[in-house]
Parts: sequence; C-alpha cells; structure tokens
Amino acid sequence: MRMLQAFRARFLDVLASIYIYNEHRGYTSLDRVLEAVRARCPGEAGFIAAVERHRADERKHYVMFRRWFELRGHMPLKVDRTCGHIDHFIERVFDCSI
Ligand SMILES: [Fe+2]
Repeated sequence: MRMLQAFRARFLDVLASIYIYNEHRGYTSLDRVLEAVRARCPGEAGFIAAVERHRADERKHYVMFRRWFELRGHMPLKVDRTCGHIDHFIERVFDCSI
C-alpha cells in the first residue's frame, strides 16, 4: 500500500510539473503575442480580446498548479521545453522555437 501511495505521489508530481511548465509557458508566450498583435493590428479588437481571454485562462491555470505545489510545501520538478506542448506545436508548424 505504501508503494502505491509513493507511486501516486510521484505520478502527480510529474504530471503537475509538466502542467505548470505549460501553463507558465502559455501565458508568458501569449503576453508576447498580445504585444505584437496590439502593435501590428490595433483595430482588431475582437481578436485582441480573444487572445486576452486565452492568456487569462492560462494564467489562472498556472496559479492553480502553483497553489497545488505551495500547499504541499515543495517546488515542481525541473521541466523544460521537451515537455512543452506549445514548444512542440510552434516547432512543427513554424519550424522555429518560440
Ligand atoms: Fe491552460
């Protein structure tokens, strides 16, 4: 039973670490998208609002996972772009990094 609990805890640590990386990567990347869209397409209010809503969702998710770690009193595992969904998407679609 103890081994099952340890496995569960480790699984959740890995999963939440990947999520918090992706949520952080998401909202900080959308900050850069917003800056570019506001500069290049200032008249596209609907599009800007949609990106702002998406950014707010990503930030909300990031805070949720951050709180999960804070309540447990430990930091996430170190995760990099190899586990980044948006990193892989941008690389495949645009053949470059974010
Ligand atoms: Fe999200």
